[in-house]
Amino acid sequence: MRCLITAGPTREHLDPVRFLSNGSSGKMGYAIADAAASLGWTVELVSGPVSLRAPAGVRLHSVVSAQEMFEACEPLFPNCDVFIAVAAVADFRPRVSAGQKVKKSEQSLVLELEPTVDILKTLAARKRPDQVVVGFAAETQDVENYARRKLTEKNLDWIVANDVSRPELGMNADDNAVAILSRSGNRVVFGPAPKPEVARFILHTIALPLPV
Ligand code: CTP
Repeated sequence: MRCLITAGPTREHLDPVRFLSNGSSGKMGYAIADAAASLGWTVELVSGPVSLRAPAGVRLHSVVSAQEMFEACEPLFPNCDVFIAVAAVADFRPRVSAGQKVKKSEQSLVLELEPTVDILKTLAARKRPDQVVVGFAAETQDVENYARRKLTEKNLDWIVANDVSRPELGMNADDNAVAILSRSGNRVVFGPAPKPEVARFILHTIALPLPV
């Protein structure tokens, strides 16, 4: 099994020292990479900036921005059997990134943002029938409905829904609780449990043949 995983946040720089980002720690993505390597899978881990060590046996590709994450994933995608997008990719980036540090002034500053590439949606649109694509849905309300919408809109086989409004289970937590939804309408729930346990459960679930 060859597996491609994205993890962590992305950073979208306004200037060399400032960026837009989010509080993703990378723990969930790294736990999945670790669990996959333990199963003997080949793992390509494309990661935004995090303070975690790459799990043993995993090939790490370190990136910063959404665009870099996409460019790292694109050539790896055709060679994977499973693509699991765990990264909390920034949806917007500053339209202009200054080459030098922006100096302060007395005036208010208006930032113009433009959308970043949706890595998961772009690659899932190229999915072959023999590939399995899994997304995550980080939601703060109406979690499973929004997740199911993403499952369809992004052409996924599975989506892992998690409620990031709960600090003890959210983006930077050690534990998680998930609902795993399949294209064919299956639903399994797991947790709260430590992220390594959740990771093993997710892999076990998605490795099963998809029911028709
Ligand atoms: N994703 C991605 N590229 C993006 C945005 C999201 O690959 N530019 C992936 C994430 O890795 C995750 C899934 O899409 O697997 C859903 O991400 P999420 O942040 O929950 O949703 P968005 O698509 O960004 O939509 P919204 O922010 O409106 O909920």
